[in-house]
Amino acid sequence: MRKLEQTLSGITNSPPPLWLMRQAGRYLPEYKATRAQAGSFMDLCLNPTLAAEVTLQPIRRYGFDAAIIFSDILIIPYALGHKVEFIEGEGPRLSKLPEQFQQWRLELNPKNYQPTCDAIGKTRALLPVETSLIGFCGAPWTVACYMIDGRGGAFRQSKLWAANQPQVLEKLIEILIQASAEYLLAQVQAGANVLQIFDSHAGLLQGEAFKNYVIEPTKQLIALVKAKAPAIKIIGFPRGATGVELEEYATTTGIDAVSLDTHVPLSQAQKIQKIKPVQGLLNPTSLVAGGKTLADETHAILRSLSDGPFIFNLGHGITPDTPPEHVAELVALVRNQTP
Ligand code: CP3
Repeated sequence: MRKLEQTLSGITNSPPPLWLMRQAGRYLPEYKATRAQAGSFMDLCLNPTLAAEVTLQPIRRYGFDAAIIFSDILIIPYALGHKVEFIEGEGPRLSKLPEQFQQWRLELNPKNYQPTCDAIGKTRALLPVETSLIGFCGAPWTVACYMIDGRGGAFRQSKLWAANQPQVLEKLIEILIQASAEYLLAQVQAGANVLQIFDSHAGLLQGEAFKNYVIEPTKQLIALVKAKAPAIKIIGFPRGATGVELEEYATTTGIDAVSLDTHVPLSQAQKIQKIKPVQGLLNPTSLVAGGKTLADETHAILRSLSDGPFIFNLGHGITPDTPPEHVAELVALVRNQTP
């Protein structure tokens, strides 16, 4: 069994398996070159050959234990018929969903997500056998946020729907659960070995709303996927969740491992690790800093979490200003080699 899947089955590996969120991206010159060749970011996501190429680039450079398929969580709104664009230096822009969205026919068109599945097939064929391939989607709440507000930011409209329009939000979430299950299963069929669900905006919700829009939809999505692919391991990333909410996420959703962000204290990470394998924690800014900052934080994380199942990763994605040499430093630190 590959190292990542071993850890996800509860085995403690030393050194732990290592991969980084956004490991394919603008900090790599070879990514920028392929991106320029593709045209826009969406053109790159929808070109299976080039998407496979950028997925493989960080594996060639660093030999990570896992590759994550190059795509985006906004492929689901796109496959539901939304207009999705990425504006240079600003981020995503989507057609905004009105409260009367029932009049929009939100139907999933498999043709629109097929390029990601084709990229998975191509990547799996070219990856070293010992490297896992991760498929992914956004969690229903996080994807709903982009569909409701039409862009990144404070997600004011989405929070208002959660507070004042629970029935409308629930209808949208229900559509997203079904669509995401179909999409994740198609990725498994295409060759994904592990799945990750990104709930990047889980931290916007607390209490009852966290239960209704983070816990419940995640639980239903996982149940739908596991009903048809019982062996697949799923990592959940409820970014911004802390305390009892994080603990409830680990205990009740059926997730196989929890990816923790930079704000989770190591003492709480140890508590969560008693419930499920954990992933993450390194501050992406420490990777920009490099040197002693990076070494000290990496060692502190390894000391705290190496006695149980742990996947070394960042608390959020690599930022474009990260020097590629610092990533090599990190790989050496985690694998206990002299850089
Ligand atoms: O290497 C990988 O991690 C795989 C590819 C991947 C991307 N996006 C590529 C990408 C993954 C797993 C995602 C997930 C994603 N997309 C999330 C969840 C994780 C997180 O970061 O919280 C979210 C919220 C999105 C939506 C999204 N996509 C935003 C808000 C942006 C703009 C911000 C930015 O960094 O520019 C994107 C664009 C995006 N997705 C880029 C990449 C490499 C940068 C765009 C570019 O290359 O021009």
